Amino acid sequence: MSRLLGCAVVGAGRIGALHAQTLLALPNVRLAAVVDPDREAAIRAAEDRLVSTTLDAVFRNPEVDAVVIASPTELHAEQIVAAARAGKAIFCEKPVSFDLARAREALAVVEETQVPFQIGFQRRYDPGVVAARERLDEIGRLETIRMLSCPSPFRPGEVSGGIFCDMALHDIDLARFFAGEIGEVTAIGTSFAGEPSDDPDTTILTLRFASGAIGVIENARRTMHGCDVRAELTGRRGKFVIEREHDTSLRVYDEGGRHRDALDGFINRFRRAYIGEMEAFVRAVREGSRPSPGVADAMASLRVALAATRSLAAGRPVRVEEIEAEPATPRRKRKNA
Ligand SMILES: NC(=O)c1ccc[n+]([C@@H]2O[C@H](COP(=O)([O-])OP(=O)(O)OC[C@H]3O[C@@H](n4cnc5c(N)ncnc54)[C@H](O)[C@@H]3O)[C@@H](O)[C@H]2O)c1
Repeated sequence: MSRLLGCAVVGAGRIGALHAQTLLALPNVRLAAVVDPDREAAIRAAEDRLVSTTLDAVFRNPEVDAVVIASPTELHAEQIVAAARAGKAIFCEKPVSFDLARAREALAVVEETQVPFQIGFQRRYDPGVVAARERLDEIGRLETIRMLSCPSPFRPGEVSGGIFCDMALHDIDLARFFAGEIGEVTAIGTSFAGEPSDDPDTTILTLRFASGAIGVIENARRTMHGCDVRAELTGRRGKFVIEREHDTSLRVYDEGGRHRDALDGFINRFRRAYIGEMEAFVRAVREGSRPSPGVADAMASLRVALAATRSLAAGRPVRVEEIEAEPATPRRKRKNA
C-alpha cells in the first residue's frame, strides 16, 4: 500500500483515546474518524479529525481501511462482524466477547471474509517480553511460570465477564506465548474490598501446560502500592524475570531518604507495548501480512479464561477442552450489582 492507512477508532474511552493518540503519531497512518456516542470523548480523542456519529458511516467511508475497536466488551462481537462484512481490517481490544459462542461466531466471519485481525494482547509487545521470547532457548525447557498483575479498574461481571476474562486474560495469553497451550486450570478467589461475590477481586490461578510445565497467575483488582506486573519464567538452565517498577531511572535523595518514581497504572506500564502492538498492526495491514496475535490466540486465551471462571464457580480443576466442547457458560447475576 503506497498511501496512508486510513484508520477509525470505535470507542474513545480510556484505551480508545490512547490508541487514537498512537495512531495520530504513527507515520503511514491517517486517523480518518473517531466514533463514540459520548461526543465530547470522541472530539477529545480525534483532535481536529473527523468525529463520526454512526458506526455505519465509518464502515461506508472508503477512506477507512482499518478499525480499532475499543468500545465496551459486550459490543465487540457485533462490531467485528459489521467491520468484517464492510471489508475493514480489524484491531479489537480484548476480549472478543466473554461468551464463547459469540466470540466464535464473530471470528468465523473474520475468517470467512479474510480481513486482517489483531487482538489487543499488548503485553506480547512489551520490550521485556519481546527480549525474553527471543532468548527463550537460553534457559532451556520451561518448567514453571509465575505471574502477578495488579491492579485493574473494577468492571462488573455483567459487562466484563469477570476477573478472568477481563484481567487475567492478559497473563493467560502471555503464559501461552511462552509455554504453549494450557490443558487444565484451577482457580481460587476472594473479595477483600466488598461483599463476597461470584466475581472476586483477588484470585490465584494454577495452570498445567500440555508441555508438562506448571504455572501460577495471581491477580488483584486493587493494591496499596500501585501498578505491579511481573513474570518469572524458570527453565532447566536458568530463569528470566520481567518486571518494571519505575518510569525513569531517576533517584532522588533528600532528608526524607531515597525516592524513586512509581508507575501509576497499566497505561504507563505498557505505554511502549501499546505503541508496539499498533505499529505491528499497521505494518501487517499495509504489507498484506497476517497480524499477530490473531484469531487463534484470541480464542485459545478466552477458553482458558472461561475454564478459570468455571473452576472458581465449581471449586474443582477444569480441563480447557471442557470449554471447547460446550456452548458458553451462562453467568450468574452478581448479588451486589
Ligand atoms: N489491552 C488493555 O490493556 C486494555 C485496557 C483497558 C481496557 N481494555 C478493553 O478495552 C475496552 C474498553 O475499555 P475502556 O476501559 O477503555 O472503557 P471505557 O468505558 O473507558 O471506554 C469505552 C468507550 O466506548 C464508548 N462506547 C459506548 N458504546 C459505544 C458504541 N456503540 N460505539 C462506540 N463507542 C461506544 C463509551 O462512550 C466509552 O467512551 C474493553 O473491552 C476493555 O476490556 C483493554
